[in-house]
Amino acid sequence: MRIHGQAYRTIWLAQDGWRVCVIDQTRLPFRFETVTLSSAEAAAEAIRSMIVRGAPLIGATAAYGMALAMRAEPSDASLEAALVLLGATRPTAVNLHWALARMRGRLVALSPEERMAAAYSEAAAICDEDVALCRAIGEHGLGLIRAIASGRPAERAINILTHCNAGWLATVDWGTALAPIYLAHDAGIPLHVWVDETRPRNQGAALTAYELGAHGVPHTVIADNAGGHLMQHGEVDMVIVGTDRTTATGDVANKIGTYLKALAAHDNGVPFYVALPSPTIDWGLSDGLREIPIEERAAREVTHLTGLGEDGEVRSFRVVAPGSDAANPAFDVTPARLVTGLITERGVTPASAEGLARLFPDQVRGAAA
Ligand code: MRU
Repeated sequence: MRIHGQAYRTIWLAQDGWRVCVIDQTRLPFRFETVTLSSAEAAAEAIRSMIVRGAPLIGATAAYGMALAMRAEPSDASLEAALVLLGATRPTAVNLHWALARMRGRLVALSPEERMAAAYSEAAAICDEDVALCRAIGEHGLGLIRAIASGRPAERAINILTHCNAGWLATVDWGTALAPIYLAHDAGIPLHVWVDETRPRNQGAALTAYELGAHGVPHTVIADNAGGHLMQHGEVDMVIVGTDRTTATGDVANKIGTYLKALAAHDNGVPFYVALPSPTIDWGLSDGLREIPIEERAAREVTHLTGLGEDGEVRSFRVVAPGSDAANPAFDVTPARLVTGLITERGVTPASAEGLARLFPDQVRGAAA
């Protein structure tokens, strides 16, 4: 992604070759600032406070957090402590645990002297692979958009609705749900994106709108509750969202409110696709509603809004009556039956155990072993 004419990934190494740089997503869209992480503790805090967020980027940051821990102290005790620290940051995105398990598998058998270099190289590999997976998701999703575009007047824009931010900012590059949109836009297919604002943290309004705007993709931000109305009036041709954890049976956890979009899409015959790289699949789970842990975040994210004041300063405002309690479940689960298809790096498949097993026979065997 290019920002102000410069190509960026969302995570990279500093000039010194060991510290880890990320974009501070809590400051977007009003300020483009980077944060430099020098310890596993700082990496954990960046994930917890959502300086970085989005399932694949959480995993990539945790991987580099392990590298920072191994640079500080490559002992067995330090390795295990860093796994616990980073693993406790956010509960829903399985990419975090996938990345930590992969780092542990790579490091545990090595001598302490070998661990730092191996950790940096494994974290870099996780990042490079994420870019390749997202690009492949984009290619497969582009096929779906092309299919909808064919048979329509060439000038008629395809209207795609998305929820939360499953774009470049949620991954290392490209995004998952937004990758097909970027490729379709670049291929000259006219499209327009309905961007759900995504209360309470407004990742749609702040992040998705920001990155679509940076790439020149036409889009309109809507209140979260507007999607159903637009679908009833034929204003949405397809929905594409991301996911933080998908079961081996195709149930999908994503940002709170995704389920309601899936219900509305189902009621109106609008195709509802979920884009995901395979590290987002939790092969050990079969019942998303019962088994996927749902993060409960601070009530303040509901009681307060953050925005740009007329004086140009970023400010927080209370919007809930003082004294009222607020609850903040951050994700919900959309059952597989409401999902038209899963867009993965290996292709598009029905959201079902059979569909996923057909694309990933190697993974299914591994989970059963
Ligand atoms: O709480 P967040 O901002 O980390 O939630 C992000 C999402 O729900 C995304 O849709 C999901 O991580 C998929 S990202 C490619």
